[in-house]
Amino acid sequence: MKEWYDAIKEAQSVERLEEIRISVFGKKGVLAEQFAKMKSAPNEEKAQIAKELNTHKSGLTDELMQRRITLQTLELEAAMKAEFIDVTLFSSNSQAGALHPVMETMDRIIEYFTAMNFAVKTGTMVEDDFNNFEALNLPKYHPARDMQDTFYFKDEMLLRTHTSPVQIRTMMNTKPPIRMIAPGAVFRRDYDITHTPMFHQVEGLLVDEEGKVSFANLKYILEDFLKYMFGDVEVRFRPSFFPFTEPSAEVDISCVFCKGKGCRVCSKTGWLEVLGCGIVDPNVFDAVKYKNVSGYAFGLGVERFAMLIHQIGDLRSLFEGDIKLLEQFQ
Ligand code: PHE
Repeated sequence: MKEWYDAIKEAQSVERLEEIRISVFGKKGVLAEQFAKMKSAPNEEKAQIAKELNTHKSGLTDELMQRRITLQTLELEAAMKAEFIDVTLFSSNSQAGALHPVMETMDRIIEYFTAMNFAVKTGTMVEDDFNNFEALNLPKYHPARDMQDTFYFKDEMLLRTHTSPVQIRTMMNTKPPIRMIAPGAVFRRDYDITHTPMFHQVEGLLVDEEGKVSFANLKYILEDFLKYMFGDVEVRFRPSFFPFTEPSAEVDISCVFCKGKGCRVCSKTGWLEVLGCGIVDPNVFDAVKYKNVSGYAFGLGVERFAMLIHQIGDLRSLFEGDIKLLEQFQ
């Protein structure tokens, strides 16, 4: 039997070991043969032969197992060496990914307001009529609802047309003071060069004790914010109307393309409209049962910001997933 111990020790592969195992332990293997021979041996020798054969049986089993582990380890090490990839090496044709310009712009907006101590809140994209309209001083059949062409579901549910319902959600479950922004996707039935059915807004809301929040506070932070986003621009507030703010204003920056001289993008006016804002209407505070408070709110379209920052002409191109557009932002 010694030759089989040697064969196992010398085996250089798992396959070779398997061959040996079959030759020794197989149905027609050496052990089977020896046990068969034993039958014809004299009776008094049988016990001794059986004992020796069993010793070899377990001895060879152990050897096989040991050698198998050794060979498997060696084979694994060799495979790992052969397949080694240096992930730190530079590749000449690597294509780096990048943030989508809308998300990058959103991140910058969030960065500004979180630095100013505003908390980031989220709501849901499927909203009910109360949060999206009713509580924002937009009763049913109010003509101002037409400002936002809406996707409706059954049972007074809809796709939120703006991020303003997050104001309501936040006030309904927190006590004042509040200092929040709400970034997110909103939906309207619109499609042309400056409108897509889905786009992004960032809402802002600040609420404190009655008499503490003024239009001057709102004006200060929005001017500072717009200079952070667009650099050295002029900012102007124009009286406007939103049902949930009173007074309301639309905010313009001097045209980033012609520096206010008047061009095609600003329709020769020298100004670009970038957001809506105002002092929170008392009816909104009534709807959420807030008493003796004052506040300001604002809302902006993230795509519009991204288009002005990156000088993108057609809003729809932001959502076509065309690699030629996206590559420019790597
Ligand atoms: N929700 C308004 C819109 O989508 C924007 C806005 C928000 C205006 C908050 C004033 C205050 O048009």
